[in-house]
Amino acid sequence: MKDQLAKIRAEALAAIGATDAAAALDAVRVKYLGKKGELTALLKQTGKLPPEERPAVGQLANEVRSALSDAIAAQNKKLAEAALDLKLAAETVDVTIPGEKAPLGHKHPITKVIDEITDIFVGMGFNVAEGPEVELAAYNFTKLNTEEGHPGREWTDTFYITPGKDDPKNDAVLLRSQTSPMQIRTMESRKPPIRIVAPGRVYRKDEADATHSPMFHQIEGMVVDKGITMADLKGTLNEVVKSLYGEDAQTRFRPHHFPFTEPSCEVDVQCFACHGKGCSVCKGEGWIEVLGAGMIHPKVLEGCNIDTDVYSGWAFGMGVERLAMMRYGINNLKLCFENDVRFLEQF
Ligand code: DAH
Repeated sequence: MKDQLAKIRAEALAAIGATDAAAALDAVRVKYLGKKGELTALLKQTGKLPPEERPAVGQLANEVRSALSDAIAAQNKKLAEAALDLKLAAETVDVTIPGEKAPLGHKHPITKVIDEITDIFVGMGFNVAEGPEVELAAYNFTKLNTEEGHPGREWTDTFYITPGKDDPKNDAVLLRSQTSPMQIRTMESRKPPIRIVAPGRVYRKDEADATHSPMFHQIEGMVVDKGITMADLKGTLNEVVKSLYGEDAQTRFRPHHFPFTEPSCEVDVQCFACHGKGCSVCKGEGWIEVLGAGMIHPKVLEGCNIDTDVYSGWAFGMGVERLAMMRYGINNLKLCFENDVRFLEQF
């Protein structure tokens, strides 16, 4: 029986050493140490031995069992390490390969122009004000001296949210058609001296085409202080136009009418493309209209409890899209709102 044990031990150790995978190793374990395994079967027969031989055989059998168990554990560890090495080799990462860059976005051309213009005004001591796009008729029209019957108040021109454009209490709700209500909101919440610019979206019932959109952007500007005159307006706007278009940029102030300013004017910039000769960009005019402006109407100031014996002010409103189109040579306004990255990437 001792010989048989020695034989099993030698065979099993060889078999264990020859395994190359966990499953094969387990099969060897079952073959020798399992309930019906060879070693187990042999041990069952020790009862048939003469009693004096039993202890020695029993001891040997235990030695064999633990030798096999140890060998299996060692082989198991060896196989696991080999498997891990293989896996690591297969998953090697070359940290020196350059990474893939995620595409980085940038500002929309309209936002760039707004930022550029507000920066110029901030440099001149103006504050930036923001206000609601959903506005009351009182702020968009009435307090701006725009009475009932003005075409801008019609539902054909302006997007009303509540039905009653003729609401006697004047609290009809609409999408603001201009940034000018920010003049009123500012004067109602602050005392002069006031210097603000208010950029934002405005809405009008215009059919979308190359130069119109039902949503576009304006920048409102306003100064209220003691002794403010039209000369301050001209000086300020000339400086802004020079900052935008260069020292030799020319402006032209033309008389105009707005309900909330008196006197009122429109301001043109000499065409950057032809320098006043007339070309396709300026439609032969030599000049491009960029904003409306004027001295704030006394009725508007008084409506906001500003003493017109002490204070006066000017205001302007400029269209951002037109400036952006001029600046970047964009020939169709729709491009600004389609969000096609092939277009936007160019700026
Ligand atoms: N709100 C006017 C418009 O949308 C533009 C404008 C004109 C604004 C004169 C002003 C101003 O502040 O003084 O057509």
